[in-house]
Amino acid sequence: MVGNYRSRVAGTGSYLPEKLLTNADLEKMVETNDQWITERTGIQRRHLAADGENTSDLALKASQKALAEAGLTAQDLDLVLVATVSGDQVMPSTACVLQSKLGCRQIMAFDLSAACSGFVYGLSVADQFIRTGMYKNILVVGAEVLHRFVNYKDRETCILFGDAAGAWVVTRAQEGDSNIIMSSHLHADGNLGELFVLPAGGSAIPFSQQVLDDGTQYVRMKGREIFKHAVRTLTQCCHEALEANGCKPDQVDWLVPHQANARILDSVADHFNFPKEKVVMNLHETGNTSAASIPVAFDLAKQEGKIKRGQLILLAAFGAGLTSGSVLLRY
Ligand code: UT7
Repeated sequence: MVGNYRSRVAGTGSYLPEKLLTNADLEKMVETNDQWITERTGIQRRHLAADGENTSDLALKASQKALAEAGLTAQDLDLVLVATVSGDQVMPSTACVLQSKLGCRQIMAFDLSAACSGFVYGLSVADQFIRTGMYKNILVVGAEVLHRFVNYKDRETCILFGDAAGAWVVTRAQEGDSNIIMSSHLHADGNLGELFVLPAGGSAIPFSQQVLDDGTQYVRMKGREIFKHAVRTLTQCCHEALEANGCKPDQVDWLVPHQANARILDSVADHFNFPKEKVVMNLHETGNTSAASIPVAFDLAKQEGKIKRGQLILLAAFGAGLTSGSVLLRY
């Protein structure tokens, strides 16, 4: 291995399950209303996996599209990486399940847990494996079936989350190719971990009747505090990526942020002094899909004809942990 290679995005794909959960549906489940949800979050509906449809199934559909667009087969892959906090089960990893479903060779496969920053973390890991020359073709997936970890009696969380998968094939760039992943910057602040948790199911609180009685199998969130940190952290991530590359905000064609809340994204655009019409936002359709959110947002914007080859794209994420990070790439 010589190193000094660069990586580029060869293909992207996404998948949203058919079933919809609208704000009108939620009005019948908890004390909320369409107007409050729309005004406070921007979300109008979320897609939910059907019974029996699991995270690896969503990941498979997105991955097949990304591979087809890259002109590669599963046999060409050197690594399968799945970013998720709602995998099929604790073990084996969802990446191993996906590797089997795709019919890959006996290549490395692992899950990455960084919540909503998972896809950006995953891209950075893939970029490192390609830069060293160790691997050539890497499948990076963000996939979540979060609705099974949401308490539909908790109106602060149940309005936010949806299920989805997004996948990118990241591959070694030709020498001199300028369409490359330019940089990645990743962070975490474990001191703020308590703001967004899913307490049960690990070794600290294994499943028991007590878990079901307490409802600790569901996500818990201090929404207002996360909101503040999200705005600050996403803005910092955007500045960090541009400063590291000597770029100015007006050179960026599209900011693709984690799709958490329209008001968070509007505030980030204000703080970053960035035009709102260049912020990719499709959370009205998807809700917050955690690790799937950025690749799905990217893919939908691409399908709409917004994102095009050769453009400068800034990805920015934050999530439970609290994790955060950015990737700047020329697509
Ligand atoms: O990937 C990261 C995951 N987490 C996030 O992105 C969450 C970030 N935070 C948010 O998106 C927002 O904080 C929320 C959407 C969760 C909440 O919006 P908010 O504007 O921060 O509302 P709030 O918590 O300040 O609550 C305002 C009021 C409260 O009533 P009172 O105390 O003023 O009477 C809440 O009880 O809104 C009430 N409320 C609701 N009302 C109707 C909270 N949830 C709802 C609801 N429907 N679903």
